[in-house]
Amino acid sequence: MSEYNQEKLTQDVLAAFAGTPEPRLRELMRAAVKHIHAFAREVDLKPDEWLAGLKFLESVGQISTERRPEFILLSDTVGLSMMVVALAQARASGDVKGATPATEATVEGPFYWPGAPDLALGADIGEGVPGEPCFYMGRVTDTNGKPLAGALLDVWSGDGDGKYDVQLSAEPTMKARGRFRTDAEGRYWFWSILPTCYPIPDDGPVGVMMRATNRSIYRPGHIHMMVSAPGHVDLTTHIFVANSPHIDEDAVFGKRDSLVVDFDHHPPGKAPDGRQLKVPYHSASYDFRLVPTPA
Ligand code: BEZ
Ligand code: FE
Repeated sequence: MSEYNQEKLTQDVLAAFAGTPEPRLRELMRAAVKHIHAFAREVDLKPDEWLAGLKFLESVGQISTERRPEFILLSDTVGLSMMVVALAQARASGDVKGATPATEATVEGPFYWPGAPDLALGADIGEGVPGEPCFYMGRVTDTNGKPLAGALLDVWSGDGDGKYDVQLSAEPTMKARGRFRTDAEGRYWFWSILPTCYPIPDDGPVGVMMRATNRSIYRPGHIHMMVSAPGHVDLTTHIFVANSPHIDEDAVFGKRDSLVVDFDHHPPGKAPDGRQLKVPYHSASYDFRLVPTPA
């Protein structure tokens, strides 16, 4: 096929999608075609490579279930999920003059489970969960520093062995999850465990890809939260443990420097909320800033 015909092929396919009635679908399909064709030409894609790629996608589909979203994991590990998160946050940022930037968002990941229990400030979601105790505290404000009373923090964490409750059995019960509301000054505090680094699920095609490309399968230690308040843009983010192994090679590119926190280590004794600890514990402080919803 001559150079001219390759170009004409792309143009013909783009033209075939030109009549798509819904404008956004038309834009998405045409851009996808343009970039897929450009990819094939850039790498001079061979038939066996094309077939291997299709087989790989087929195996991603075959292993996928609601509880095993392998396509999302694929999107995470090629950085597409984080790109979509970053685009959404840039779109919602509002860019208010003089305001401190909003807390950075990061990937939700596959382990969010809606319906965590509503708990009082100070409750311990790490009870019965392997791991070292950790006290979390901070405030939720808007980007001008105004405290947001009654803001909701929906928190979930892996345990000290790097496992989420949903990975522990076929019929899991909720562990290391809870929903907290900030007090009148926008403050929150609760107990959990110190999160450790853990491998992403690697017993499927994404694991095959990670090994074939010599990639680390680890995520650095982190705790997840969705933070929301009326009149503000919802935030899905993590707090990362500063000295965690793999802090600079997050398998899903979710780490942001602004989300990395020094966790303090304390001997047994009285914690900031008055609790007496018989064992050493950790503490972390982080303030979340939410963007007011654009008018
Ligand atoms: C997580 O942090 O829970 C996660 C995110 C993306 C892929 C796998 C796990
Ligand atoms: Fe996680």
